[in-house]
Amino acid sequence: MNPFRYGQVVKGKDFCRRPELVTGLSAQILRGQNVYIQGERRTGKTSLIFETVRNLPKFRMVWIDLLGSKTSDDVLKRILTAVMSIETGSGFLDTILRKLSHMKPVVGVDPITGLLTLSVDAAVELKPDSIAGILDLIASQHSKRKPLAVVFDEFQDIMSLKDAPETLAQLRSKIQFQSDISYVFAGSIRKKMDAIFNDPDSAFFKSAVPIHVGPLNRDIFETFIRDKFRIGKRTLTPETLGAVFDICFHIPGDIQQLCSALWETTDRDETIAASSIPAALDLIFTQELKGYETILTVVSSQQLKLLTALARLGGKAPMATAFLKNSGIPQASSVRRGLGRLMALRIIFHYEAEYRFVNPFFRAWLLHKKL
Ligand SMILES: Nc1ncnc2c1ncn2[C@@H]1O[C@H](COP(=O)(O)OP(=O)(O)OP(=O)(O)O)[C@@H](O)[C@H]1O
Ligand SMILES: [Mg+2]
Repeated sequence: MNPFRYGQVVKGKDFCRRPELVTGLSAQILRGQNVYIQGERRTGKTSLIFETVRNLPKFRMVWIDLLGSKTSDDVLKRILTAVMSIETGSGFLDTILRKLSHMKPVVGVDPITGLLTLSVDAAVELKPDSIAGILDLIASQHSKRKPLAVVFDEFQDIMSLKDAPETLAQLRSKIQFQSDISYVFAGSIRKKMDAIFNDPDSAFFKSAVPIHVGPLNRDIFETFIRDKFRIGKRTLTPETLGAVFDICFHIPGDIQQLCSALWETTDRDETIAASSIPAALDLIFTQELKGYETILTVVSSQQLKLLTALARLGGKAPMATAFLKNSGIPQASSVRRGLGRLMALRIIFHYEAEYRFVNPFFRAWLLHKKL
């Protein structure tokens, strides 16, 4: 069986150890300290949080995923759903129904898991001022004997709400008094996370300790990958491994995806040389082609020119003369506009003074197609 996992939270034997981060995060959670975790996409933020809390004795996690949330009503309903995941005594349900009666909560049973679910009548629109009541309810389930860690994942999406400042203010005003509970806020869009935690005008200004999640330790991750290939009696040459890391810009999720494709396109007892990589990439291209084609329909021909130039020349100095000459886009101002649009579309992002592709396989595809 293919041992590589991607696009999902990894845990246990699928989690490549990152001891410093786990130790650091554990210490903060045990202290009841609030933390904000920032890192690029697919670097392992969610997995780090799950694995850390899983290994903290007695701890239970309330995981609230804010990905794509559009209204404060939606955010509140997601918090409520997460509340039900707290494993608690039978009295808790009564408490919820009583304390939140004004929201008209509806208890149901998930037909697949058999677990109780909590929802709110769709006709009831929840407002930010209901946050306090729900967070009080969560806090009532926290104790030394059965501590909680409350996680807001993809927290940056809260900035897309129309009433973002009010929602943030309500959250903050409650959380600051729950000093023994650790709240963990994770997000991947640095600009938005910075606006929440580092802007003096934000309700969350300096309210949490930052933890940065970058690539995994190279040696530890290489050993992890080689060991996985070894299970299937396959050997990876150092050149192949090096090329995999480079193509994927060291992003753990992308590395696992490419390794998974390499596994699919090679055989037992094979020594996998770098010449095996194109077939693995082809497999990924086939799987992702629809997405690439969608991108091509939303970018202009000028933006496509810019993308291919970024793929070929790299994104360190796209306004420099050499880039302009090579890209066939003579004006730096056109490049600047194009970069802005491509970032807004989340096709590229800015990382340490470099413009990079959000999906490194799309970059590889552009190069392969010679578009
Ligand atoms: N510690 C790890 N060991 C092995 N693989 C990892 C590890 N952390 C992350 N990965 C790889 O990255 C993928 C994404 O992990 P995860 O969802 O935790 O990242 P994330 O940073 O939360 O991503 P997103 O920004 O998309 O939410 C995993 O499916 C796995 O392939
Ligand atoms: Mg995540």
